[in-house]
Amino acid sequence: MGSARGSYYSALKQITKVANSALSLRRICNSIAKSAATAVQANGCRILSLNPQKEYLITVGAYGLSDLYLKKGPLDVHKSLPDILDGKVVFIADAAKDKRVQYPQIALAQGISSILGIPVLEKGEAIGEIRIYTREPRQFSEADKSFLLSVADICAVIFERAELHQLLEQDYKANEKRRKSSRVSPLPATTLRPTSFAHPSEEDFAKLLDFYCIEWLYEPRSFPLRWEGDKIAEMFTPDFYLPELDLYVELTTLKQHLLTEKNRKLRQLRELYPEVNIRLLNKNDFLKLLAKYGYGPLGEAKVEGIDRVLYSHAKIQRRVKTLARHISRDYAGQRLVLIGILKGVVCFMADLMQNLSLPVTLDFMAISYYGGDGQVVKITRDLDSSITGQHVLMVEDIVDTGMTLNYILSHLSAHNPASLRVCTLLDKKARRLINVPLDYVGFEVPDEFVVGYGLDYKGEYRNLPFIGILHPELTKGAEPH
Ligand code: IMP
Repeated sequence: MGSARGSYYSALKQITKVANSALSLRRICNSIAKSAATAVQANGCRILSLNPQKEYLITVGAYGLSDLYLKKGPLDVHKSLPDILDGKVVFIADAAKDKRVQYPQIALAQGISSILGIPVLEKGEAIGEIRIYTREPRQFSEADKSFLLSVADICAVIFERAELHQLLEQDYKANEKRRKSSRVSPLPATTLRPTSFAHPSEEDFAKLLDFYCIEWLYEPRSFPLRWEGDKIAEMFTPDFYLPELDLYVELTTLKQHLLTEKNRKLRQLRELYPEVNIRLLNKNDFLKLLAKYGYGPLGEAKVEGIDRVLYSHAKIQRRVKTLARHISRDYAGQRLVLIGILKGVVCFMADLMQNLSLPVTLDFMAISYYGGDGQVVKITRDLDSSITGQHVLMVEDIVDTGMTLNYILSHLSAHNPASLRVCTLLDKKARRLINVPLDYVGFEVPDEFVVGYGLDYKGEYRNLPFIGILHPELTKGAEPH
């Protein structure tokens, strides 16, 4: 025990020293992984950070693990030791048999027996994980766990500091850009991306993906292509994986000899792994691909004047499905009347109702704004059917000041429905004047003018498949109409 305590102490001393050094995030985390694994007498360790959407774990540092093991595929937090999300320490006695291990065959092939997962918490919320690996099956003592929890606390501080640096750097670059051209606005501040790119074009590509709010993972999987006996003689690691599109992307350069070699590897990969969706892309190809998925500037919709995309089509669809699941659960066994206000709600209403597993009927109202201040509403189209005694769900595109909704709700409650609730896709809380009760909310949006997915500016932009922020110059002094 005395010697174990001694090794924890010298490990913590080394870890805090490295944490406070000027080394890169990756080198700091590699060193911490080594100190942590050695102190608890394990064979390997990796330090993982959760992506902003809390769906994937990204390796920020590792020790004692093969490249193949580290790049075995995207680590989905819901499939790989999911209890970490609840802030729990997870122990896996036999990695090859445990259901909480996402890639058990690879663990078996790599000779990994036991795994210990320690959550990295920030204000009680999981932001990452320390994972310890052993070749022999073994248990970990309470002292081991307590030592690793302290290491996790240090990691949380390091992550926070790195994120802050990244934001400051982005802010600096954005200001510099703004100084050069007043029309170019900054890219959104992204959460910590502890990735060191092999090539500047990859970083550009990542920024482009961030711009369109497309989730990405950098080099999460290596595909063995050729073996010599038991040994892997050749591997291929595509640059990116885009989980929303289930697509691997390898970026191309213009050098012909490299392109020929990449094409050969790609052919081989497709033969060996026919289920894998992979594309070789240059930047123009990529823009065309985005347009095909309904994202990009080459799409048919009008996108001039869009400052940046706030929610991609895929993200909206995911959120709508979740809302529909909650509504279906809450109204199980009942009939529901959905009421929308024309026209902004059309896209949301259409998607929402298709995902509801309830019998529903549909009705619409239309309103006009009149008066100089534009905040007094009048009903220009009323409901087709009576809602007395019915369960009513008011479906809204966006709640801003709350004036419209407040007016509509008092109009509807006068008809004595059995119940009356509100579901809004967007909630612009910062501008609320009247406190209206919102039962289901898709996203809380910043205080900016948003368009797309039904929302308009002067009648346009409704057909964009994503929700974007209009360039502030266009909306100077504009009020919602
Ligand atoms: P409220 O009465 O201020 O809550 O405004 C609600 C209505 O204003 C919405 O139904 C929209 O039609 C419009 N609106 C508010 N904010 C925006 C926006 O950012 N983009 C587009 N329309 C908006």
